[in-house]
Amino acid sequence: MLSYKELGLVNTRAMFAAAVKGGYAIPAFNFNTMEQMQAIVMAAVETKSPVIMQVSKGARNYANATILRYMAQGAVEYAKELGCAYPEIVLHLDHGDSFEICKECIDMGFSSVMIDGSSLPYEENIALTRKVVEYAHKHDVTVEAELGVLAGVEDDVVSEVSHYTKPEEVIDFATRTGCDSLAISIGTSHGAYKFKPEQCTRDPKTGKLVPPPLAFDILYEIEKKLPGFPIVLHGSSSVPQEEVDIINTYGGNLPDAIGIPEEQLRKAAKSAVCKINIDSDSRLAMTSAIRKHLAENPGHFDPRQYLKPARDNMKKMYIHKIVNVLGSNNKLLKQ
Ligand code: G3H
Ligand code: 13P
Ligand code: ZN
Repeated sequence: MLSYKELGLVNTRAMFAAAVKGGYAIPAFNFNTMEQMQAIVMAAVETKSPVIMQVSKGARNYANATILRYMAQGAVEYAKELGCAYPEIVLHLDHGDSFEICKECIDMGFSSVMIDGSSLPYEENIALTRKVVEYAHKHDVTVEAELGVLAGVEDDVVSEVSHYTKPEEVIDFATRTGCDSLAISIGTSHGAYKFKPEQCTRDPKTGKLVPPPLAFDILYEIEKKLPGFPIVLHGSSSVPQEEVDIINTYGGNLPDAIGIPEEQLRKAAKSAVCKINIDSDSRLAMTSAIRKHLAENPGHFDPRQYLKPARDNMKKMYIHKIVNVLGSNNKLLKQ
């Protein structure tokens, strides 16, 4: 058993309390590679922002959980080296789907875990979440749970609506599970194709797709039922059209990729939403820079030649999110 405290990591409790009170959101960036980790740390240090580095099951399979944990430990030391005396870095398990995976992560130094029982019947979601909370809280690890199902890209509008979080369930769920934060479904979804073209309208000037708005009425109702309780938004990449265009210009094929408009996320960040998950935007920033670099420099074959611009582009995107969308810059609790 290795406590995250020995690694210099923090849990989400204090940063979420400050974010809910202050009307901003903490960035939760997924990482799989060293370049993503470096870009996240550089962006967090430059903007003096707390940050959540999250590891999915896919990331564990790709990079290995132990390696990612050491990378997070390295991230704390790297942040200090870059001049941040008191970095606030959370190492979080994203979409944990069993008690065992959550326990394994807690035992190896994660400071926060998500138990995603959202696809289970309500009572089973409660029982599983409660079990994870009991173990996690013994080790001062915070737990994110999920209620309501995010739409998959194949879902149609009708089933999307029926999977939204039901505000009438949140008090019972939060009380009986003891979870520290709650991911809700209000119209976001994972990936770079969040909406089908037929769910969107087309801007007559640009010809670009305009997605339907998020269900802020549901968010505000949940906020009223659980005042001050930390709410989480998954599937919150904006899928910047500039990056999609670069990818498509340099040999890619991402037709009608579409995300959540940033003004919607800005609005959400001012509410009880205090954690906003972004993964796809990092993938797009990395891929666009690599495609462009290799197309313009066909003789390059040293990975550092194309991974450096990829890292720079991700760092620029992370800083933009922190400063212009989430508002978590200059929010370190200890300067
Ligand atoms: O929630 C999904 C995250 O974007 C992680 O994706 O499972 O492909 O690593 P992944
Ligand atoms: P995106 O696919 O919108 O980046 O969402 C990531 C996410 O929610 C990770 O849990
Ligand atoms: Zn997610």
